[in-house]
Order: sequence, then C-alpha cells, then structure tokens
Amino acid sequence: MKRYLVTSALPYANGPIHFGHLVGAYIPADVYTRHKKMQGENAIHISGSDEHGVAIIMGAQKAKKSCQDYVNDWHKEHKKLFDLFDIQFDYFGQTSAEYHHEEVLKWFEALNEKGLIGPKDTQQLFCKSCENHLPDRFVEGECYECGYKHARGDECPNCGILIDPTKLINPVCKICGAQNSEEVTVTQWYLLQSKFHDHFKDWLKTKKDIWRKTVYPFVEALTEKGLHDRAITRDLDWGIDVPLAEARGKKLYVWFDAPIGYVSNTKQLFKETGSKEDYLKDWWNNPDTEIIHFVGKDNIIFHTVIFPVMGMGSGRINPPSDVPANQFLNLEGKQFSKSSGWYVDIEEAFKNFGVDSLRYYLLSILPETSDSSFAWKEFGLKVNGELANNIGNLVNRCLKFWKKNWSDGLDARFFEGFSESDHGKAFKEALAKLNECLDKKQIRKGLEQLMSMGQMANTFFSDQEPWAQFKTEPEKAAKTIAQSGIQILILGVLFSPFLPTLSGKILSFFDLSLEDQIKQKIYRGDWSVLDQLFKEGGVLKGKPKALVPKIEDEVIQKLTDELHQGK
Ligand code: 2FM
Ligand code: ZN
Repeated sequence: MKRYLVTSALPYANGPIHFGHLVGAYIPADVYTRHKKMQGENAIHISGSDEHGVAIIMGAQKAKKSCQDYVNDWHKEHKKLFDLFDIQFDYFGQTSAEYHHEEVLKWFEALNEKGLIGPKDTQQLFCKSCENHLPDRFVEGECYECGYKHARGDECPNCGILIDPTKLINPVCKICGAQNSEEVTVTQWYLLQSKFHDHFKDWLKTKKDIWRKTVYPFVEALTEKGLHDRAITRDLDWGIDVPLAEARGKKLYVWFDAPIGYVSNTKQLFKETGSKEDYLKDWWNNPDTEIIHFVGKDNIIFHTVIFPVMGMGSGRINPPSDVPANQFLNLEGKQFSKSSGWYVDIEEAFKNFGVDSLRYYLLSILPETSDSSFAWKEFGLKVNGELANNIGNLVNRCLKFWKKNWSDGLDARFFEGFSESDHGKAFKEALAKLNECLDKKQIRKGLEQLMSMGQMANTFFSDQEPWAQFKTEPEKAAKTIAQSGIQILILGVLFSPFLPTLSGKILSFFDLSLEDQIKQKIYRGDWSVLDQLFKEGGVLKGKPKALVPKIEDEVIQKLTDELHQGK
C-alpha cells in the first residue's frame, strides 16, 4: 500500500510565524495531507521546531534566556499559532530533544563510515575583542558582490549569494559589536558531496518531468558542474556534539541536523502512539512511500541537494519524490518587514477575521508559480465576493428555506436520484478535476475548482427558483431543496482539506452521523452512501446561522491606512 510522508520545513524557534511562512509551507502541506487522508490514503504530516544555529544563540542572548528556554518558548508559541490556523501535524517535535540527537548521530556515523565526511582546514574569522569564533550570522559586513552593507556571514540578503565570511568587507562581530577580527585557520568537517555527484545527477534526472518548473531547472543549473563539499561542523556552544574525539567542542551545523528532524520526529510519532510501524523500513526507506517536502524557495537547495545526498549517501532514507517549493509572499508588492512597520500582525488578523476568511484568502493567493502579494483590499473583496457570496449565501438561503418550510424534515424520496441527475453528473466531473489538481499539488487551482462547484450549486438553486415552485408545486420545491442540500453536504465535505472549520460548520447543520468513513466515501465520489444517509429523509439541526461574516469596507480601509502610516 502506498504511503505519503508529507513534511513542512521546520520553522526556526526564533521569532514569530508570519503569513509568508504559512503560504510557503504549512498551509499547502496541511491541505495536501488532509486531502490524502480524505482519499483514504495512509498519509502523515511531520514537522517541528528547528532549534539550533547561530541565529538562535543570538536570539537567546538578546532575550536573556538560556537557549533551551528560548526555543521551548518559541516552540509553544508556534504550536499555538498553527492550532489557530487549523494546521494539523501528526507530529511536531523539537530538534533539541534527546531522541533527535540520537538519530542525527546515526546519520553522521553512517556518512563517516562511507567516506562521505572528512576534515579540511578552513579560514574563519575570530573576534579578538570577545574571543569568539564568528561563523554564519555571528558576523556581518559589506557584500563583496553587490556592496550591500549588512551582508551576513552565511548569505547576502540583497543579492542572495552564499557568503565566504573571510571575504566580507569591514566585518563586524555581532556578539560584541567590535570591528576587530582576524582570519584564523580552523579544522572543520565537511560533507564530501563532490564524491557523490554522478550518483546525484542520475537521480536528479528522474525528476525532470515531475518537479515544478520553478524547482527542477534551478536545481539542475546549480548542480550541473558538480557538487560543493559543505562544512557541517561549527565552533559553537549550542547544538549537537560532533561525535569524533578530534572534533571535541565542536557542534554540528544546524542545516545538517534540521532536516533529519523529519525522520526523528517520525520515529517519535510511532513511539508515542505505540505504533508497530518502523519509521525507516515502513516509511522513509520504503519504495512505496512518496516523500514530499513542502518548503519555501529559499530552502530548495537543502531539500533537493544536500538532504538527498545525506539520505542516499548514508543509506538511511530514500530521497524525496517531490519538493513542491513555493515562491515568496509580499505585502502589497513589497517584502514584509516588521522593523519598518510593513507587516501584518497575524494574531490580530486572526482575532478580527477568524480562520476561514484568512485561510481562504491565503489559499487563493498561494505563490505556487510566482511571487504573490497580500493586500487588505483584495482580502475584503475575495472574502465578501467569493467565500461569503458563493458559499455562505447559498448555504444560508437553501437551509433557511428548508428549515422554514420542512422543519420536521424532507421526505426521503426527494433526495433520490442525485448521482444520475444532470446536476449530479456535472458535480462528479468537477470533483474529478478537483482531485486531479490536489493530487498534482496545485492547491490554488484546486480551490478555484471547488469554488466553481459552489457556482454550479448556486446556478442550480437559482434556476429552479424554489421560492416560486413552492407557491404552485411544493413537491418540486422540496426536490430542489433536497438536491441542493445534497450539493451543500458534498461541498461541506470537499471543503475539509481547505477550510476545516467551515467544513465542520456546514456539516453540523445536518442531523446526520457522518463518520470519517462516510465522509471519505463522499469525498471520493462514492455517492451511493447518499441514499443510505437520507433513507429516513433529511432533517436539519438547529437554526442555520450565517457562515461567513461580511467584512465591512471601513475595517479594510482602516487596516490599509494603518499599514501605510506604519502603525
Ligand atoms: O528556513 C528555515 O526556516 C529553516 N528553519 C528550515 C529548515 S527545514 C528542515 F530542513 F529542517
Ligand atoms: Zn566580538
């Protein structure tokens, strides 16, 4: 049986999650996993906090906390936010945990045994004032390529190149602020990727027609001439100890241990749930498992080159089937920037608008093929004009009419014949297209397809004019409402990967016991269950309430003004 191992990039436990993170990895991964589960597939979604590295050490210093307390606090914050946004993980772990360290050491040892790790002398900066080594973000200076003043020791945020810190112009120590560093020779251990180039190239070729057009050509161009060896150790106090006597005091580089978090967290999932599944044999090393890494575009190299080399090279896991990387999300055309006030407070937005409206809008602008932009005005227009108009109104109009005129229930015969009817057949064809989009991980297009099914249901309802039918031929009106009711029920089920809260609300209007298996059948288009469900007729529970609150123009105007005034 096929398995789907879905991962989303481990967020750094070092600052708030913003909308860019949500659309880059977590929401698409969540929708895809929920979709697979609804199809009845064996799918799991794994992620967790990325808790090592220089940025975290610096963050903890600034917050005057120990590194462990600091990452624990962010870990809790992130979990809370993911819960608010209905992002569901089968396991969301921590890379500072013991179980993760154990797994990482096994990888190091396996790669080392295979001759894929080796020491090299390198030039590094050392701060003579505070006597610290300055790897990665511990140093900043002028970029030697583009002249940008605040290039970091690992990369230049302006031109995007990977930086050799010893070449930075006027380097500044980020620990003590001194401009007093010298170049020293230190030994670091490298992942000897260059040895793996041929093997890597053969594997990469198999992905040519599978990976996104924004991913494959980029990776191919980057790796065509060879793979660079990468330093995987650092002189730091926080991280996983390098398991070699000659490397005492050194830690593993955060990007070496972080992706292994997908694997260690899977192991921990089975341990904590008492499952008999073997995380390697049954999942990570099983040819029937599709391994899918959802990441933002800045993480492509790590997930398409370095981690696959580590996996194949160590023999511990299979390389990924797909890396559906997303492009960036801007705010009204410009990069989000908290320090200059050009940002949206995500928790505030949640308090104002709730999960359905925000998730709907974010899904409708997913940067799957190119960068996209968040804009308050468009948010208002889309929520009111699409979600409220198309879905909210339909549910409201139909179910209110049903409740008002048949409060004791609609007779079973009115629900019959849906699958064979023209409107039922058209619905089924549309469902097949929706499934196809989601199977291809085209989530944004999938949502459009679902909304077009909403339109079909609206058209059916309006064309039948049940309010007019009711006056002259009440039986016809009853049939219209029952058949529209079925469409609403199906829409409710189909919304579950996209907007789980909205889906739950729609389904809760029906007095039906909808077990998971029944929902899955409806989701897959096995609509024989409908006759069964309505065999005693159709009853509504309670009074249908408005599903999608309208967003007032003044609220949107206020948020737009505040953003532009930098409040
Ligand atoms: O870019 C980031 O936010 C990293 N923390 C992603 C890590 S992904 C994985 F490999 F762990
Ligand atoms: Zn210093």
